[in-house]
Amino acid sequence: MRLLSGILGAMLAGLALPALAQEKSGVDVYEAVCSECHGSGKHDAPRLGDRKRWGKLVREGLDDLVPAALRGLRKMPALGGNPQLSDLEVARAVVYIANAGGGKFAEPTAADAARWRKKAGARK
Ligand code: HEC
Repeated sequence: MRLLSGILGAMLAGLALPALAQEKSGVDVYEAVCSECHGSGKHDAPRLGDRKRWGKLVREGLDDLVPAALRGLRKMPALGGNPQLSDLEVARAVVYIANAGGGKFAEPTAADAARWRKKAGARK
């Protein structure tokens, strides 16, 4: 019985882990979605680690950058073009990119993401 519950427990943990991992980290979102442009410089997107271009953006602050990433800006598509992403996932990716460009921003919280969504306007 001990053995059986051990096996069941391991199976349940295996099921629960992917569910927990659903909210992706900034680096994962960056690699899956944002790197298409921010890795290559496609459409003249500011590239990851380009401190010259990101330095200016970092000074504008997250209250500017995250709403722009949520709503889109010129050739930058809303949510990086992937509506499956949550606002928090996009915010984490912005923090990842901004910090790679010299920023020192903390991990955003769900409350931060909700505030930035208000600034950006409703999802389309
Ligand atoms: C299809 C290409 C493309 C993808 C994919 C993309 N971006 Fe961008 N992004 C751009 C371009 C181009 C700009 C420059 C926009 C401008 O200033 O005209 C930009 C600008 C930005 C900015 C600066 C906004 C500002 O206020 O100037 C942030 C932040 C940003 N992107 C975050 C992201 C994040 C996070 C992702 C992934 C979830 C992402 N981008 C995916 C093309 C892209």
